[in-house]
Amino acid sequence: MNYELIVTRTEGPDARKAAIVTLNRPKQLNALNDALMDELGHALKAFDADEAVGCIILTGSEKAFAAGADIGAMANYGFADVYNRDYITRNWEQIRGVRTPVIAAVSGFALGGGCELAMMCDFIIAADNAKFGQPEIKLGIIPGAGGTQRLPRAVGKAKAMEMALTGRMMDAVEAERAGLVSRVVPLDKLMDEALGAALTICSHGQPSVMAAKEAVNRAFEGTLSDGVMFERRLFQALFATEDQKEGMDAFVNKRKPAFRNR
Ligand code: CAA
Repeated sequence: MNYELIVTRTEGPDARKAAIVTLNRPKQLNALNDALMDELGHALKAFDADEAVGCIILTGSEKAFAAGADIGAMANYGFADVYNRDYITRNWEQIRGVRTPVIAAVSGFALGGGCELAMMCDFIIAADNAKFGQPEIKLGIIPGAGGTQRLPRAVGKAKAMEMALTGRMMDAVEAERAGLVSRVVPLDKLMDEALGAALTICSHGQPSVMAAKEAVNRAFEGTLSDGVMFERRLFQALFATEDQKEGMDAFVNKRKPAFRNR
């Protein structure tokens, strides 16, 4: 498919490569309209189905990862428009079904739906110019793509509540201190760092990577004992894989593992 609002490419060895999806509406600071979200969902699904892709990086421009859902496009919507078409759920939620790890490489503004999109990814690496916020309150609405749920899970109630009620932005240093991002890197190193992490993930066995993602995500869905039980069963199940034999044999015999993703 030819995309107009995103750009896609791959990097790394053919057998196990990283896919990079760049949001590409620079004049609108990557404001997320329906057409862009349709393209993003399509690209993510296609990369997820490609066995040679071991990790996906989602990024924007230097100035903006994404400045939110497209306000101009939403301005005249009424309740029936958003409810009947299941606005947001219809195409934004597709990212949750992606089993391949997705890293958000964020520079510049990640606001509103942009912050929510980054939080839907598995982890965020931020450039030192990144700014995060949920300014929807200033528009007479509230976050609508999971912000009121994922932000408190990431940074705790106090900061999430302050951000949702005042609309203030958090810079990269504060975001790292609060646990929203895994680390902050200089802007000119952002893609190198994200790609380094992505290719490291690609070098691991796919079943254990997918199991780790599922298990960590489970921590946000239920009770501690259910989560620990879920993890234990996945851990035990991985002993049925060839990759577990290979990984441990390689360690014992002091050689590099050659995972076959089986
Ligand atoms: N939707 C549509 N267009 C947007 C946009 C958005 N969310 N954010 C920026 N733009 C457009 C601007 O309208 C402007 O277009 P023109 O050049 O045609 O006027 C262009 O991008 C550049 O923006 P600015 O001139 O405003 O740039 P700036 O550097 O002065 O300010 C900014 C940057 C602080 C990010 C400011 O653009 C801003 O506040 N944007 C809106 C942020 C926002 O409210 N996001 C939440 C949206 S609602 C939402 O996301 C709902 C949800 O939860 C799903």
